Formats: sequence, structure tokens, C-alpha cells
Amino acid sequence: MNQDELKKAAAHAALDYVEDGMIVGVGTGSTVNHFIDGLADMRGRIAGAVSSSDASARRLEGYGIPLIDLNGVTELQLYVDGADEIDGGFAMIKGGGGALTREKIVAAVAERFVCICDQSKLVSCLGAFPLPVEVIPMARAYVERRLARIGGRPVLREGFVTDNGNLILDVHGLRIPEPQALETEINQITGVVTNGLFALRGADLLLLATPTGVERRV
Ligand code: 5RP
Repeated sequence: MNQDELKKAAAHAALDYVEDGMIVGVGTGSTVNHFIDGLADMRGRIAGAVSSSDASARRLEGYGIPLIDLNGVTELQLYVDGADEIDGGFAMIKGGGGALTREKIVAAVAERFVCICDQSKLVSCLGAFPLPVEVIPMARAYVERRLARIGGRPVLREGFVTDNGNLILDVHGLRIPEPQALETEINQITGVVTNGLFALRGADLLLLATPTGVERRV
């Protein structure tokens, strides 16, 4: 199986967690695109979806799945999203697609975060994947200096603007044995909207696709 087939297997395994009448929180990325494709077959059975990005919203709309504003939702049972890296404690690096802030907001509301990944995303220590940080444009240079002080090498994601109108700095060279502490520290920098560490609110369940099947890890 190639990587895309593994992503599809993990995504389709997540459909088992979608119940009739549910509002489903939907993440962003190529793995989630497979989940949305599968959700299309269930569209008459769910109430709708809360999307974490304009890209996922467009795909959901294309299938006629009703989009629901998060502000109108008091309870969101399920959020399904991918990750760029996930460790054994289910802390993640996310934001490879630049949707980290909205992803973090939807994840915060959700009761259950189901992470869907191919096996290449599981790591013993986070940090090989550059950590995305969403930044208010006028604070870019200041935030770069602060990130350098904590040992990272921030690189501006060229030609990219987030759905919120901000910039992304991809921070290279970090090794992250304590993701909760670093998530908190980076979020304290003035001008940072949020960073792509999902450790304070990690995943609850990992559906990890391997060539021999999808492992369900809790
Ligand atoms: C987007 C994300 C994605 O979940 C992450 O980048 C994984 O993407 P893919 O499923 O394409 O490998 O955080 O902001």
C-alpha cells in the first residue's frame, strides 16, 4: 500500500465513529479529504459538519453536507483530523496545511478527537517536522527573534496566507520532549495567534494505518 492508500484506510476507519444525527467536526488535509469523501455517503444521516478550514468547507459543500457555524453549537461529540507528527502520548504537530488555529478551536470544543494517520506520522519525539506558528503579520520579525531565542530556526512560509489573514512561520530544528510546556511558551509570545503543537488538548484516539491494517490506539 502506498501512503495515500494508508491515509484512506485510516480515514475510512474513522467513519465507524460517526453516529446518526451527529454534527461532525472536520479537520483539514489530504487524509481528512478521504474522510470527507466517505462522509458523503452518510450525508443524509448526519446533521452536518463544522469545518476547520475554507478548503474542507468547500469539499463538504461540494457533497451537499450542511456546514454548521461553530458558534451555534454547544456540543460537538466528534472531531476527526490528521497530523503531521504524533507521539506516544498523542501530542501532535499540526498545521502542515496552515489550518492550525481553526483546527485547534474545533478540537477544543470537541468531546473526542480522533486522529487519523498513516504510520509514518508516529514518532518517538516531536520536532523533525517543522513546527508551524500562525503570526499576526506586523509581529513577524519580533516573533522570529523570540523563536530563535528558544532554539528554533523560523522560516516564513512564502506566498501563504491563512484563512484568518495571517502568516505562518515554520520552525525548524526543534526537538520537543515536553510538548505541553513548549506549546504554552510559544503561545505566550505577543503576536502569535497559536502554534501547531496540540499537546494541551491532544488526541483521544489514534487510528494508525499500517500495511497490515488500521490499529486503534487509545
Ligand atoms: C493541516 C493539518 C493536517 O492535519 C496535517 O498537515 C496532515 O496533513 P495530511 O493529512 O495531508 O498528511 O494539520 O493544517
